[in-house]
Amino acid sequence: MNNIFLIGFMGSGKSAVCSRLHELTGMEVIEMDASIVDSEQMSINDIFASKGEEYFRDLETNLIKLISEESNKAVSCGGGAILRPANVEYMKKSGKIVLLSATPETIYERVKDSTNRPLLNGNMNIPYIAELMKKRQPRYEAAAEITIDVNGKTLDEICNEIIEKTRQ
Ligand code: S3P
Repeated sequence: MNNIFLIGFMGSGKSAVCSRLHELTGMEVIEMDASIVDSEQMSINDIFASKGEEYFRDLETNLIKLISEESNKAVSCGGGAILRPANVEYMKKSGKIVLLSATPETIYERVKDSTNRPLLNGNMNIPYIAELMKKRQPRYEAAAEITIDVNGKTLDEICNEIIEKTRQ
């Protein structure tokens, strides 16, 4: 219980926020993507390419179920972790869901040089990001208990807002 699940589009800053939260609060961090890469001994790109997206989504669901039995963790969720309603239920039962919200322009600036996000490989442009974000937005908003607009804010501003709002 008392976990914090950071959700949001790829590149919204979930990992950076989690590690700063760790420094500020001592909360242990769980990086969903890194845990999956560790347990499968395969990159996210390779999992998508050789086993398919559904297989990856099953791994996410299994992991979220395990995390929901933990306490006091700051969890950096994969950007698609909210796509299955069951995942959101597990998160809600064991903590607070915090959405990091950023514009497609901010996202693009942060992800444009990355090659390890299979959904963006070959689609690295603002219109594609905007379209995928629009499709997912209702899921992000329905899942979120707290929303933080991260555009133009420093890591510390974001983290302090999260600490304040999750303690209320
Ligand atoms: C995904 C986001 C990625 C990773 C995978 C799929 C998504 O995580 O889980 O590439 O569907 O949005 P990040 O949000 O950490 O980049």
